[in-house]
Amino acid sequence: ADEGMWLPMLINKNYDQMKRQGFKLTPQDIYDINKGSLKDAIVWFGGFCTGEIVSEKGLVLTNHHCGYDVIASKSTPQDNILDNGFWAKNTAEEKPAEGLFVSILVRMEDVTAQVNAATKGLEGAEKAAKYAEISKEIVAKATSGTGYEAFVRDMFKGNQYFVFVTEKYSDIRLVGTPPQSVGKYGGDTDNWIWPRHTGDFSMFRIYAGKDNKPAAYAKDNVPFTPKRSLAVSLKGVKEGDFSMVFGYPGRTNRYENSYGIKLAVEKVNPAIVKLRDIRLKSWKEQMEKSDSVRLLLSSEYANIANYWKYFIGQTEQLKHLKVYDYKKGEEAKFQSWSASKPEYSSILADYGKAYDAYTPYALYPIYLSQGIFGATAVSFARSFMPVEAGLKAGKVDAVAPMKEHAEEFFKSFNLPSDKKILAGTLLAFYNDIPKDQHPALIGEILAKYGADDPEAAFKKYSDDVYANSMFASKAKTEAFLAAPELGKLQNDPAYQYVTAFISNYREKFMKNVDAFNATNGALGQKYVKGIMEMNPGKLMYPDANSTMRLTYGNIKAYAPKDAVKYDYETTIDGVIEKYVPKDSEFDLPANYLELYKKKDFGQYANEKGQLIVGFISNNDITGGNSGSPVLNGNGELIGLAFDGNWEAMSGDIVFDQKYKRTICADIRYVLWCVDKLGNAPHIVKEMKIVK
Ligand code: ARG
Repeated sequence: ADEGMWLPMLINKNYDQMKRQGFKLTPQDIYDINKGSLKDAIVWFGGFCTGEIVSEKGLVLTNHHCGYDVIASKSTPQDNILDNGFWAKNTAEEKPAEGLFVSILVRMEDVTAQVNAATKGLEGAEKAAKYAEISKEIVAKATSGTGYEAFVRDMFKGNQYFVFVTEKYSDIRLVGTPPQSVGKYGGDTDNWIWPRHTGDFSMFRIYAGKDNKPAAYAKDNVPFTPKRSLAVSLKGVKEGDFSMVFGYPGRTNRYENSYGIKLAVEKVNPAIVKLRDIRLKSWKEQMEKSDSVRLLLSSEYANIANYWKYFIGQTEQLKHLKVYDYKKGEEAKFQSWSASKPEYSSILADYGKAYDAYTPYALYPIYLSQGIFGATAVSFARSFMPVEAGLKAGKVDAVAPMKEHAEEFFKSFNLPSDKKILAGTLLAFYNDIPKDQHPALIGEILAKYGADDPEAAFKKYSDDVYANSMFASKAKTEAFLAAPELGKLQNDPAYQYVTAFISNYREKFMKNVDAFNATNGALGQKYVKGIMEMNPGKLMYPDANSTMRLTYGNIKAYAPKDAVKYDYETTIDGVIEKYVPKDSEFDLPANYLELYKKKDFGQYANEKGQLIVGFISNNDITGGNSGSPVLNGNGELIGLAFDGNWEAMSGDIVFDQKYKRTICADIRYVLWCVDKLGNAPHIVKEMKIVK
């Protein structure tokens, strides 16, 4: 099939089908705990993306947008690697990426029986506490006597449990990146859209101690020798070819019910989009003023813009593909199957009641997390809540962990945009959230700054907050950290602002939200259990949860709408077609244009002399899969997965067979960008190339 994010350990259940579709290896080639297998070449990149090892010297390939934060933070107007690109000439030139880690899966194990035995007969908080306890035991046992880490994750909404044992490497260095005009070609305009022409890749290297084991950063650490690295194929792909994607998909909600979809479409998604829009506009205005501000804010801008557009697309396609009606149909089938089964017969009615009770409060947490906390100084102030608790308890060292945090925060703090964000999100909150849910502070602000024009009042208020709060001033924050005083923290205007919204939430309706989450979780577990019982013998995959998965399918074109057909691959000619000199999204480096003019594509051209840039497959991926290897039937690397397509943006909820595609950068384009554009053939020489 194409739908399905399968657990590699259980892939033998899919093996016959995979073979029929063109897979040439064995299940042991994918997952083997006794010798190197493909899974050993796949890394969880920083906890938010995927990467793959492509040389015996620990070279890791991932997306440009996964390396973006590191790349931007290493850039200054004088040494601007974000705009100009960068390739280390030797290992000494590789740039340490502080705080970044990759982890490699050692093994996984089904621990359902253990967890169920421990939590038998328990519900709610008691069950959660027991689950935490047994998880700790399982982890301790799985890692004892090793340097490994481990965690337990539930699958199928709590109907199955696995322990994942991993090895975590934290000395990671940037090896190279194309200029962002190539790595982010098409920008937000092309994001989530096929046909695509983005060279979305960057490269890192894993370093280890002399014993090849994980070690904290040290100049003398050595390139990691992996158990397995991927071979790279220059043979290219054709429509219908087998393809599989290995990686760490973050979250899907394929068992979501119709009530959740209605709430998302009508309320939650539009709110997220509206609130993110305030941040994006405020940042953009400042980013256009200078290169240094642009470099400072561009990583966070890209992050927020990515899911801003995601939620626009998800809402559009949930409607367009009639996902609500589809779910209603599935639920009707479940209802008639379960009519005589007391364990299941009231699940859907109970979902309905839970959503009815929750809906009036559903926007507050969204306006908090996406709105009020969107002003970075406000979030920064919020991070001092444990400091308040510590100082109250007389612990002066409560500020200790904040020193590094403050250092980091002020590196990318931009006051003018932040001030606008506070005023804008406060106004949105004031207009959109029912009055009886407002904190008293809003009334006080209006009384002081003018109740007849809330917009102007919130602006003046915000000006005052930013003029007086220590969280908007590095010097003031440092002074506080040097001599922390409880009163100073409690009287800080940004601190008072954020705590007013949080206390109000805690006092008035956090219990409703918590109760909803608990009920929703318990119903979800029963619902999925019922669905499994209703479909005996059916091969099912669990929702994505940032654990390693494999999805397989084929290279496949599609028709986005009547009379329109999209090809399965794009070429460098298409890059040139989109080129707009000096544009912020569609500009190209001068040497790119020269190489193109000379048709200098080297060994990376196909048999017709064209340079293929991207292709699509019907593989089942989501966020977190970014950077995942796309492999052919022999397990050789043919591309990098980096996006989903617009017509199937509802894909995290329902996989649409007709429309859902994975957008990939062709590995030949990636290598051309390294070798020819980046003039770094020594990097390509590290790899095992199959022609
Ligand atoms: N949509 C891509 C993903 O979530 C990220 C693309 C980043 N590019 C951009 N223009 N923001 O994997």
